[in-house]
Amino acid sequence: MIQSHPRHELAHLANVELLTPNMEGSLWFFKELLGMREVARQEDSVYLRCYEDPYHHSLKLTAADEPGLGSMAWRATSREALERRADALDKAGLGTGWKSGDLGVGRTWGFESPDGHQMEIIWDVEKYQAPEDLRSRILTRRSKRPLQGMPPRRLDHVNLMASDVTVQKDVFESALGFETRERVVDFTTDTEIGAWMSVNILGHELAIMRDMTGAKGRLHHLAFWYGVPQHNTDAAELCREYGIEIETGPDVHGITQGAFLYVFEPGGNRIELFGNSGILELEPDFETVTWDLADFDTGLAIGGAKLPAETYFIYGTPPLPDQKSLLAPSNVPSRVRKLDPEFVKLPVTESIN
Ligand SMILES: [Fe+2]
Repeated sequence: MIQSHPRHELAHLANVELLTPNMEGSLWFFKELLGMREVARQEDSVYLRCYEDPYHHSLKLTAADEPGLGSMAWRATSREALERRADALDKAGLGTGWKSGDLGVGRTWGFESPDGHQMEIIWDVEKYQAPEDLRSRILTRRSKRPLQGMPPRRLDHVNLMASDVTVQKDVFESALGFETRERVVDFTTDTEIGAWMSVNILGHELAIMRDMTGAKGRLHHLAFWYGVPQHNTDAAELCREYGIEIETGPDVHGITQGAFLYVFEPGGNRIELFGNSGILELEPDFETVTWDLADFDTGLAIGGAKLPAETYFIYGTPPLPDQKSLLAPSNVPSRVRKLDPEFVKLPVTESIN
């Protein structure tokens, strides 16, 4: 089936705001363990970037009572494309209007997914210029690779939980030009359980999975890209040694063919470290691939890793009231724990009924 919706109006995922109830712990995770660099602080937010991210920042950490997604920004392919998509979203009743830009971005059109996920479209951006001491000799690289931690190269994708996958997917296709690369269907009820979507050749930059709790508007995970699957194993070692809880992996999903490692950062958000880009889609007339939920093991993990049903398919951020009892102190590095005695609130698998 040749897609007829507006293609090439969005370029890629530019930045994501993550909410954290534990700023010190989250900063330790992103800066020390993942080696991301801080570029700015403003009010309750800290702005961070990976060493190959193209713009001012890719991650904005904002202090909040609960973990979750603050907002996420898509960069349009032109100023005119931004205007056209704003108009389409306004007509769909999803626009929240123009606002002046955050640090590093200009005029911004805000909108909500049908489930209430906060999003933005941007065009004017500040291209990152590294200071002299961080300038890379590899000229396609925006800054030197950091010396500490296991630094990912760039922001990769966002996975959202949704009360109705089809409703979300239809809006992203019709109003924003996303292509659905792969989906999972429960054919016993003809219900879409998940959709993996992209506006460029990546296998996905946006995934939408059914929230089995029925909740709306939650974040499943935010992913950063290594490009080298071995780095996921190295990152898993660091997580083990420094007390960051691993949910599952390293392994490779059949869906997207992405090499995954899922961990919980100290604020309680699930983070995926993405060892490669998986399948790239170059065909202009590709057909959406459909996986059957009844025969799904290969789609989940080619190597057989288990995605824990008691967390992977029900835990998102913000956690539901009855999931807050799942949050418990964890074995975090003592020098981090010293920063905040209330420190880590992580989902603990064995305490889940
Ligand atoms: Fe992912």
